[in-house]
Amino acid sequence: MLYREIKPNVYYVGSIDWDRRLFDELIPLPDGTSYNAYLIKGSEKTALIDTVDPTKTSELITRLRDIKADVDYVVAHHAEQDHSGSIPEVLKLYPKAKVVCTSKCKTMLVDLFHLPGDKFIEVEDGETLQLGGKTLEFIHAPWVHWPETMLTYLREDKVLFTCDFLGSHLATSNLFVEDENKVYEAAKRYYAEIMMPFRVAIRKNLEKIKNLDISIVAPSHGPLYNNPSFIINAYREWVSDDVKNEVVLAYVSMHGSTQAMVDYLIDALMQRNIKVKPFNLSVSDVGELAMSLVDAATIVVATPMVLGGAHPLAMYAAYLANALRPKTRFATVIGSYGWGGRAVEQIKDALKNLKVELFEPVLIKGFPREEDFRLLDKLADSIRSKHDEIVKK
Ligand code: FEO
Repeated sequence: MLYREIKPNVYYVGSIDWDRRLFDELIPLPDGTSYNAYLIKGSEKTALIDTVDPTKTSELITRLRDIKADVDYVVAHHAEQDHSGSIPEVLKLYPKAKVVCTSKCKTMLVDLFHLPGDKFIEVEDGETLQLGGKTLEFIHAPWVHWPETMLTYLREDKVLFTCDFLGSHLATSNLFVEDENKVYEAAKRYYAEIMMPFRVAIRKNLEKIKNLDISIVAPSHGPLYNNPSFIINAYREWVSDDVKNEVVLAYVSMHGSTQAMVDYLIDALMQRNIKVKPFNLSVSDVGELAMSLVDAATIVVATPMVLGGAHPLAMYAAYLANALRPKTRFATVIGSYGWGGRAVEQIKDALKNLKVELFEPVLIKGFPREEDFRLLDKLADSIRSKHDEIVKK
């Protein structure tokens, strides 16, 4: 099994999961993922930085044996099982090793793995641990994306181990980023799905690391960054309040009436030089939808009326957008009904976490007539005018 040196006596010992296609039974992983773990050998002590998903424990153990590691510390940045899941097996292999983590993380790991309290060393924000010629500095970074998270800065080698923060779900044989465009897309998708709800906390954590001299960012998913500003600048843009002149149009149509409205609105927006990203919810990848919400100024949900309310797929999209809390500034609902229903109220209610201004909805009876298309023209005019007010040129 392969382990790879990233700096003298600093090794990658993680696992690539080429075939995983779903995370949390929710998030599509079109490019697989990796669970990155690292081994740091000091002249006196050795630390393992995170572990791997339980499905890959045997790979980690083999690598540790191959490298002849004698682990004294297991640094657990984050309790989620894709990084903590092998801790019990690692502790069996190294019975004297201690788990180094925040006090919150300790509580979670005890709950998950029923480990005894004396297996842990709790560390405060800014505390350091000497391995002998390798100094680990722990940086508490709550809410990236759980409350217990921390990062580790290896001072001598200027490596920042960031766990989920700044990572990407991308299985690749490249240890470091080679194709920046590919990694940018994967990292943005990852940010949208995992980090976006915690945008404000992430902004604070970016501030916290801004004065560190970093040569490598080593996350726990995806390739490492030897050009740290690439990913840090991308995050700065994503967490900022700036939005783009874009409309996310999440839609579903049953018999073509809502589809005719969607088609018309797409053209109307394009004529007004507004970028539009339509998602047919019956076939769309929710990860793509989440990504599009990172920057868009406006979201429009288009739905037919079914069983007296919005279509369940439209409700799902609204629920997801609400949970992901993008910085979107405007929203509305369009659609068609046969005899009535509560779609607008339901979708407005489902989006209540978003601090959005609502445009007048366009709900029409049956197939759209000329006067209905004029209402869509008016909506497109309103979107253009609001975007002109707030989107930076
Ligand atoms: Fe990659 Fe939050 O675990």
